[in-house]
Amino acid sequence: MQAMARAHSNIALIKYWGKRDETLMLPANSSVSMTLDAFYTTTTVSFESGLTQDAFFLNHRAATESERLKVSRFLNHARALAGTDKRAVVTSVNEVPTAAGLASSASGFAALAAAAAHALELDLDPSALSRLARLGSGSACRSVYGGFVEWQKGTRADGLDSYGTPIASESHWDIRMVVACVSASEKGVSSREGMRRTVATSPYFEPWVKAAEADVTTAKEAILARDFTRLGQLAEANALKMHATALGANPPVLYWQEATFAVMRKVQKLREAGLPAYFTIDAGPNVVVLCESKNSSNLQRALADVPGVMDVVVCSPGPGVADLEEVAL
Ligand code: PMV
Repeated sequence: MQAMARAHSNIALIKYWGKRDETLMLPANSSVSMTLDAFYTTTTVSFESGLTQDAFFLNHRAATESERLKVSRFLNHARALAGTDKRAVVTSVNEVPTAAGLASSASGFAALAAAAAHALELDLDPSALSRLARLGSGSACRSVYGGFVEWQKGTRADGLDSYGTPIASESHWDIRMVVACVSASEKGVSSREGMRRTVATSPYFEPWVKAAEADVTTAKEAILARDFTRLGQLAEANALKMHATALGANPPVLYWQEATFAVMRKVQKLREAGLPAYFTIDAGPNVVVLCESKNSSNLQRALADVPGVMDVVVCSPGPGVADLEEVAL
């Protein structure tokens, strides 16, 4: 009853922001993402007799109690599917600056879902695996697939129609996401809390939800047509809309730091100077910049010079979740 899996993180081009059901992690709007090759989580799950509670080791240390409880609550879903109450030892290593807004929860829960499902011999198809991953963290349902992925919000109350589906594989389009790391520390307001506040109080939340479905349709068309300008303009505008709806919450949810804004301005300037690049920002201060592969080195150098930028990582479209042979973590 032991298995190991690896999942890569993803960055949304059209953001998920706001839940219609917090327990089942059902989103108010559909979203589109690209899976990244450079950031991933490798997780081993071992269900064992005689354990009184789940144990969780994250990045070679015992996890905090709240992290352990999150994993344990997630494993309850897998246990319910398998009809067992056996507890597990979970070991996870992130190749991601944890909780810096770089979606470590996406790769983390996708890897955990796959390893747990395999260890329990659940034999889930990709849609069912995506639904299971969603219960850990919404964005994790997209990390089941490589390349370009849509998460259909679904309409059912039980969430059976809310899961990731592939738009195009990682070999479809050789574009880059250049990640400007402004901070690797824990973010102030979690995405869960930021969404909750936005849904409850932002006057801009309804218009955001209304606009999202058209953005998803256009993004899919742009991806399939490999239309970089169309996708870039749309992704940047969509990210700004997401942050606008969060800024409208009470109290406001502001994820940007000075360096975040400096990178946004830099990207606009580079564009004016003839380097096509577009930014997107998740629930954190880091900025992810979309560009064509031929421009990634120039862009990486330019972003590294922006004051407050600590690291710049170039990512290509990455693969979907994979079961791994046992190796020591
Ligand atoms: O599912 P979470 O809690 O990782 O929320 C993700 C929220 C955003 O990253 C801001 C947007 C997205 O679609 O990934």
